[in-house]
Amino acid sequence: MPDMMDTLVYFGGRVVPLGEAQVNILTHGLHYGTGVFEGIRGYWSEEAGELFLVRCEEHYARWKTNCRMLGIEPPQTAEELTELTAELVRRNGFRTDIYVRPIAYMSSPRIGVRPDGKFDFAIIAVPFGVYMDSSKGLHAGVASWRRLEDHALPARGKICGAYVNSVLATTEAHRHGYDEAILLNESGHVAEGATCNLFLVRHGKLITPPPSENILEGITRACVMELARRELHLEVVERPVDRTELYCCDELFLTGTAMEVAPVTRVDHIAVGSGQIGPVTAHLRELYQQAVHGRIRDYHTWLRPCYEPVHMAGR
Ligand SMILES: Cc1ncc(COP(=O)(O)O)c(C=O)c1O
Repeated sequence: MPDMMDTLVYFGGRVVPLGEAQVNILTHGLHYGTGVFEGIRGYWSEEAGELFLVRCEEHYARWKTNCRMLGIEPPQTAEELTELTAELVRRNGFRTDIYVRPIAYMSSPRIGVRPDGKFDFAIIAVPFGVYMDSSKGLHAGVASWRRLEDHALPARGKICGAYVNSVLATTEAHRHGYDEAILLNESGHVAEGATCNLFLVRHGKLITPPPSENILEGITRACVMELARRELHLEVVERPVDRTELYCCDELFLTGTAMEVAPVTRVDHIAVGSGQIGPVTAHLRELYQQAVHGRIRDYHTWLRPCYEPVHMAGR
């Protein structure tokens, strides 16, 4: 087994082993949560002999936009950051599924909330498989913690400190025996899961809360909306969702880079629909897996091959 600490990461403008990528204990980002991160998946395809980064440039574009909310401006373009990530994959020789974690943070080692304009960023890529086994359906519970309000801490920002909200909700969910938490916002509508977006199937339509409900504007959410419209010809509706719709919908599932497309078969101990994984969820889950493994030509534009960038052109 290779030592994870030997994995090469981008840190402080250089490529170094993970074990050497250390920050000072007084770092601003550590004390005040003043960092912005991303999560990107890379899928290894045995048949293509290729590792595909999924919507990598869009993740970096979102990251740069979010960084700006904190006054952090990494100089590289989203395209340059994507290339840097592909290079990390090549230098590590990954031939397995991976997870990429870019993180920018206020880096000054000093006491005091006021920012001084100094920041640093890192890109870490590590082998990564299934985040949560949802093959038999997940059991979710509505959390007593509410989703962050945009006027207090931007939910769409993927800001490090904001994830305490997700941690509290996840801790509570696990204590109650649930796999994942579902958070309501201050108006009592369903926002999303602790680490993922949420969809339900009701009256033959696919329904998901809009960005104004304090959700993170998920990239997997966008993928699933596109697949549902183009491949299943389903009407996709973004509208506020009531808590009780979780109990009376036909199907419910979660989406996220780590979570992928994960069916929920029980909420608060109540069976969703038949209590089994529904047909729309199963179909979208399968289509998503096919697309991110490069098996559907129409979705090759989502993918960035790491080893042979020309490879996709002729496929
Ligand atoms: C709170 C939250 N919502 C939703 C998502 C899903 O976003 P994406 O599909 O872009 O990974 C994530 C995952 O990063 C998340 O942390």
